[in-house]
Amino acid sequence: MALRTLESLGELSGKKVIVRCDLNVPLDGGTITDDGRIRASLGTLRELTAAGARVIVISHLGRPGGEEKPEFSLAPVATRLGELLDAPVAFAADTVGHDAERAVDALEDGQVVVLENLRFHGRETSKDASEREEFATRLARFGDAVVEDGFGAAHRKHASVWELPKLLPSAAGRLVQAELEVLERLTTGEPQRPYTVVLGGSKVSDKLGVIDALLPRVDRLLIGGGMLFTFLKAQGHAIGKSLLDQDGLDAARGYLRQAEERGVDLVLPTDVVVADRFGADAAHQVAPIDAIEATPAGADGIGLDIGPDTAARFADLVRGSATVFWNGPMGVFELEPFAAGTRAVAQALTEVDGLSVVGGGDSAAAVRQLGFSDDRFGHISTGGGASLEFLEGKALPGLEALGWEQA
Ligand code: 3PG
Repeated sequence: MALRTLESLGELSGKKVIVRCDLNVPLDGGTITDDGRIRASLGTLRELTAAGARVIVISHLGRPGGEEKPEFSLAPVATRLGELLDAPVAFAADTVGHDAERAVDALEDGQVVVLENLRFHGRETSKDASEREEFATRLARFGDAVVEDGFGAAHRKHASVWELPKLLPSAAGRLVQAELEVLERLTTGEPQRPYTVVLGGSKVSDKLGVIDALLPRVDRLLIGGGMLFTFLKAQGHAIGKSLLDQDGLDAARGYLRQAEERGVDLVLPTDVVVADRFGADAAHQVAPIDAIEATPAGADGIGLDIGPDTAARFADLVRGSATVFWNGPMGVFELEPFAAGTRAVAQALTEVDGLSVVGGGDSAAAVRQLGFSDDRFGHISTGGGASLEFLEGKALPGLEALGWEQA
């Protein structure tokens, strides 16, 4: 069955529509450091308010573990949402209590309220289905229909994702629709070639599923980030004190073999930036991969970025591709001396003549932190774990609940 979309809900004027978003944004104190997920939710919210719906936004923020922790309040998110919508957005200081009831009752057509963090209630994430059902039932009484638009939470079997859409007429929002359309092009569709996947991040073990699923489909797999050192180690290189994922070593060896058998170009760095310790002011220098321990730091050297030759080669390969998926920074981009590799790959992605997709989580944060605007990429996914699980071919509860079935 295909995904149910907003059209299936019919006339929404005057109806109370609960919209489950993923507004789980990074916060520094009360300041939102990346509002990408709020911006990504605007399309659906604008469409619903323009249709005259009374919109009740629900979301999680962080992992407060079923307790009311003020640092995880959605209040700053509601404020930012109001700024971006350029319209007043009410905020209810509880999720299913009196304040929420009052705020929902006060809504007029085309108005928006944000309810407090779903995860202040342990029943939202409970392993016990009856607890989740009970919480979903309390949420459902606020609405006539529910729109699921929190793609970033679609891999979670939580009350607002799995049970709630079964209690009311429900449909996917525009963000979920857009995410799905792009991710399907990377998996089940016929991607334009050359098709390149760039993977970074710290551990090979975290990416096993996605490498298994994508290796048979891609033309090139470029490996950067902390996990490149496990691949180098698997090839017999000395890597000093660079990150080693001992559990991922055998897998890395297996992927090197498999890529060769399949004729996939598995591209590893030829040079890296080696520091004498972890820190923005660490002494560092570029070293070829067979001389990582030959810098002044010796066997204590830590590789913190891909080197300039590698960055240039990766950028060329990305630029020359028709389809690119990128997940995981190339180095410790948060520290300026080790940001060049990630910056080079991000820049190359903006120059792709075809489909360029930035996987969510750290990669999305990296491109924004490095000053690239979202519209320079084909698509920036709002899902970190959710996008990866989708690419691995796993069933996502949040999509299944909306009628979607894997091809
Ligand atoms: C994310 O940040 O990937 C989503 O918001 C899901 O959050 P979670 O991993 O805490 O469920």
